[in-house]
Amino acid sequence: MLRAIYPGSFDPVTNGHLDIIERGCKLFDEIIIAILINPDKKPFFTIEERREMLLQVTAEIERSSCRLLVEDFQGLLVDYAVERKADAIVRGIRAISDYEYELQMALMNRRLEPKIETVFMMPAEIYSYVSSRLVKEVFLLDGKIEGLVPPVVEALMRKKIVEVEKEAG
Ligand code: PNS
Repeated sequence: MLRAIYPGSFDPVTNGHLDIIERGCKLFDEIIIAILINPDKKPFFTIEERREMLLQVTAEIERSSCRLLVEDFQGLLVDYAVERKADAIVRGIRAISDYEYELQMALMNRRLEPKIETVFMMPAEIYSYVSSRLVKEVFLLDGKIEGLVPPVVEALMRKKIVEVEKEAG
């Protein structure tokens, strides 16, 4: 049984993330999608909202291929990976520009915990420019994000912005 951790902020989950999860399911029996709890960042969606949204959008993948779990973690990724008895960490690489940072992280993680391998996967080319950061920026400036995130995520973003604006008065 091969288990991988797919870590990230997922704020929000994009179609690029889902593409990587689907591809990862061809290699692993189980993937734990692990949301980083980062006290230094002010996210758009809370951890609970992100967990709920990931469960919704991955339900279809899970029915057809591997077992998917959605969890959150704090602290060092490799400590969490060991605790969860994972064999590998999966990371998506969209372009060469991602590679430098991802390589640094992968090598640091390997130094910290040689038992855990990092597996880089490429999403479909149509998602090569999609990031949660850009999706949020475009959305907040009233741009079209259709096709970049699942429809349910777009609906949740619309709901969230109404709440945020209400709170701000
Ligand atoms: O989706 P992101 O924000 O690119 O994910 C980054 C993530 C969560 C993979 C990375 O920040 C991480 O692993 N954080 C946990 C803390 C840690 O282990 N830091 C050392 C990395 S070498």
